[in-house]
Parts: sequence; structure tokens; C-alpha cells
Amino acid sequence: MTGLAVSDRDRPLYDPFDYSLHDDPYPTYRRLRDEAPVYHNAKFDFYVLSRYEDCSAAVRDFKTFSSAQGTTLESLKAQVQLLINTDPPVHSRMRHLIAGMFTPAKVAPLEQAVRTMARELLAPHLADGRIDIIGDFAAKLPMAIICKLLGFPREDEDRLRNLTDTVVHRDEGVFAMPDEGMRATLALYEYFNADIAERARGARREDIVASLMDAQAAGKLTHEELIGYIYILSIAGNETTTKLIGNICYQLHRHPDQAALLRADPTLIESTVEETMRFDGPTQMMARTTTRDVTLHGVTIPAHAKVALLFTSANRDERKFERAEEYDVRRNPRDHLGFGGGLHACLGAALARLEARVAMEEIFAALGEFTVDETTLERMHSPNVRGLTREILTFTPKEK
Ligand code: HEM
Repeated sequence: MTGLAVSDRDRPLYDPFDYSLHDDPYPTYRRLRDEAPVYHNAKFDFYVLSRYEDCSAAVRDFKTFSSAQGTTLESLKAQVQLLINTDPPVHSRMRHLIAGMFTPAKVAPLEQAVRTMARELLAPHLADGRIDIIGDFAAKLPMAIICKLLGFPREDEDRLRNLTDTVVHRDEGVFAMPDEGMRATLALYEYFNADIAERARGARREDIVASLMDAQAAGKLTHEELIGYIYILSIAGNETTTKLIGNICYQLHRHPDQAALLRADPTLIESTVEETMRFDGPTQMMARTTTRDVTLHGVTIPAHAKVALLFTSANRDERKFERAEEYDVRRNPRDHLGFGGGLHACLGAALARLEARVAMEEIFAALGEFTVDETTLERMHSPNVRGLTREILTFTPKEK
């Protein structure tokens, strides 16, 4: 057979547990789209869809591509019920409870808090002419905002972030969550349980956790669903937005012509956020499980198979986007799959967009022109999320 085998055991072309994929997965994605649009990783026994049309159809067909067996490739022993891992009718009941709190209109009033926090984080580094835009800024900002929404004290933010970082990390070549990740998961459950117990004893605080506790009291949510909700909000509200801010800075550094366009016309910030979501979005892949045999492009995926939906490959599919491999901050693509699609489309998309836009406005205002010191880059390792854990920006130092 010429080209890529549809099924591959010895050295699978697409192996998200192989760290060498993480630096630049896009050439691999292109091969998958062109040569094996339904690909089978025989080593770990899962299938891969990589074209826009297929991923977009799969997220909209929950009856065939179910989330209920988990949305990671590796099976995790869940002790709680996560919204993201449900199908209707459980999903509809759970999502409806707080979806209204994350609409663009509902998150808009957070803009000032995001801006103030962004300025506070940038200020101590301006005289130095360098900042680790992840460690000193992008890792802190979304966690501070989600903790504010969930009513967790500021002094707990760093600890909670370290725990969520540990939950998403995967060791190289290992098709399972490491023990450390399991311990971090349990520590998070413990933290949320203690918070709920304390609230039950003390005065009411007005925040998302209080609303979810009301839903539990009204019989609309079980205790496991309540803990799972807080857990998924803490992780999703934090990991991905951090990586998006880092990816925007990195892509602007790699594409100075695009950075110049943005400096000349700051109204392009929103479309820069959207184009980075398309071109190099943090959520690379989410998994589903088939409920029946499905035949696509001449290949039959059997029932009960795990299927990886490669959202960022879909976003670079030239069958969908013109000049798909070009980063163009004027493009403003709103139909990318960076936030997923269908029933599970990202609940926090409006918040993520707001945070990324304000973060970039403040970075530009405070730093002016910057470059990334490429020797300092460190990357996270997860099959689902792509982004940096260390990224030093250098710029002309500002006077105090
Ligand atoms: C750039 C930042 C973000 C990216 C790239 C992102 C990406 C995604 C994607 C791709 C999904 C769909 C998962 C699937 O289909 O299985 C999703 C779902 C979700 N996201 Fe986000 N997300 C981001 C920010 C946020 C924020 C800030 C929050 C919290 C406030 C959040 C909360 C959620 C939740 C709760 C779900 C599950 C929704 C459901 O199952 O109905 N996300 N996100």
C-alpha cells in the first residue's frame, strides 16, 4: 500500500501520547486528512477523524458519537459525573442549570475585573524588559477569574492551578492518567467537598457554586454531579485560556507581518483571537465512543470504538478554509471547531474570548512590540490540550 496505512500498530502516525507530536502536530494532521481521513491507531485501538466535515458532523450526532463513556481516549475511573461526559437527557438537564450565566451579556461585566487583574500582573515586569507570559501572566489570569466566579479565595489560586495542571498532564507513551494526576483529582474533589460543607454551615455567598447548590437542594443535581460541575469548570476555565494567550503571543511573534497589521489596527484583536483559535487552538482533540457501526470514506468504525475528533486538524482543512495553513488575523473565522460544536460546544467560550481579547489589549498597551525568546519555550504534554508552560517575551524596558 502506498501512502499511509489506515491501521497502524508498530509506529502509529498519530499517537498523542508520543511527545514528538506535540511540538508541531500539523504536518501529521495534514497527512491524516489527505491519506487516511478515518485512521485507526492499532497500538491503543482508537479511530481518528481529521477532516472538518467529519468532525463537525460527529459533534452534532450524539446518538452515534456518544460522550457518555468519556471524552478522553484513555478511560478514566470517574467518581463524579462531568457535564462534558454526558449525553441527553442528562446533559440537557445539567447544562441548562448554569448555561445562562455564561452568555456574552452575562460575562461582559467581568471585563473591568479582567483588565485590572491583567494590569496588576504585567506591572512588576515592565522595567525588566522580559516576562514569562505563561508563568507570570496567562496561567494566573483565567484562574483568578474562574476562582472569583466560583467564590474561591485568592490565596488558593496557585494551589488549585497546580492541581489542574497535574490533572491534564500525561507521561510519555503511557495511555493512562499518571498516579499523580489521580492524586490531584482526588485533592480537587476534597477541596470542593470541604468548600460545600463550609458553605452549608456558614452565610450564603452569591456565586456559581451557590447556584449549583440550590439546584442540588431542589433535586435537580446529585452530589456527584455538583462536584463534577465545579471540577470541570475549574479545569476548563483555566487550562485552555492560559494556553490560548500563550499561543496568540507565539503566533504573532512567528508572523511579524500579522503583528504589524494588528498594531496598525487594534480593532483586529477579536479576529486575531478567533484566527488563533482556528490556526493553533488549545483544544486539539476530544474523544467520543460509537454507539453503532459507522462507515466513512470506505472504512467501518465498529460500535463501541473510541474516536478522536481532531478539532485543530479540522480547522486547517483546506476543504473548508481557503489558505488554511496561513495565519491571517483579518480572517475572523467564526465557524472553526476550536470551541467544539453541537450540544457540548464550549460553555465558557464568551468568557474565554473576553479574557483573551482583554489580555492581548493589555499586553500590547504595556509591552509595545515584543518577541518570544525561543530558547526558553517549554511545552505541556497532554493528548487533548496543546500549549506552552514557559514563554519569555522580551521588549523595550519601560520606565517606572
Ligand atoms: C480558549 C479557551 C477554551 C477552549 C479552547 C475551550 C474548548 C472547549 C471545547 C473544544 C469544548 C467541547 C468539548 C467536547 O466537545 O467534548 C469545551 C467544552 C466546555 N468548556 Fe471550554 N474551552 C475554553 C474555555 C472555557 C472556559 C473559560 C470555561 C469555563 C467557564 C469552559 C468550560 C467548558 C465546559 C463546562 C464545557 C463542557 C460543555 C458541555 O459539555 O456541554 N471552557 N470547551
